[in-house]
Amino acid sequence: MAASLDVNGKTMSVEADPDTPLLWVLRDELGLTGTKFGCGLAQCGACTVHVNGDPVRSCVTPIAALSGAKITTIEGLGGAHPLQQAWVKLDVPQCGYCQSGQIMSAAALLEANKKPTDEDIDAAMGGNICRCGAYQRIRAAIKQAATGQAIPVVAAPAVVADPAKEADIDEAISAASGATSRIQRGEVR
Ligand code: FES
Ligand code: FES
Repeated sequence: MAASLDVNGKTMSVEADPDTPLLWVLRDELGLTGTKFGCGLAQCGACTVHVNGDPVRSCVTPIAALSGAKITTIEGLGGAHPLQQAWVKLDVPQCGYCQSGQIMSAAALLEANKKPTDEDIDAAMGGNICRCGAYQRIRAAIKQAATGQAIPVVAAPAVVADPAKEADIDEAISAASGATSRIQRGEVR
């Protein structure tokens, strides 16, 4: 079925069922592979994009819900967004897999709040998991983008900041692996 989506300021026509998650359409139909599949269950934030400026988990957002909405992906930030510059300057990523989702959540935060406090950042970024534990550099880069000043990076902890959250995401990823197998077998679209 044909659907029309507004992605990064362009009207895109796609062939997909209305219940197809946006993430699938972005990556497989439109070739916008900057948005990542992590858990597929709205648990990790790797797939975060903006819908009308709000951070949204594209893995659980059917395209039927997006008629007339303005969708922005990491590609839509253009590469020179202050957050992207700060990310490069502070060498934020480790493996990099979570990073487009992190930047999209941070970009939505800065749109709504130009001078976020640590608490504001933690609240906005709490749903974005980084298995490499780059949380300190992520926070520093958000502050640098917000203030334009270099913020010292406190040494990252050797272990993940929130083991309980890691347990949750391990469980989610395990469940997602089963879902992925079902998708590969054609049982789930
Ligand atoms: S892939 Fe969407 S939240 Fe994890
Ligand atoms: S940089 Fe590796 S998961 Fe975040």
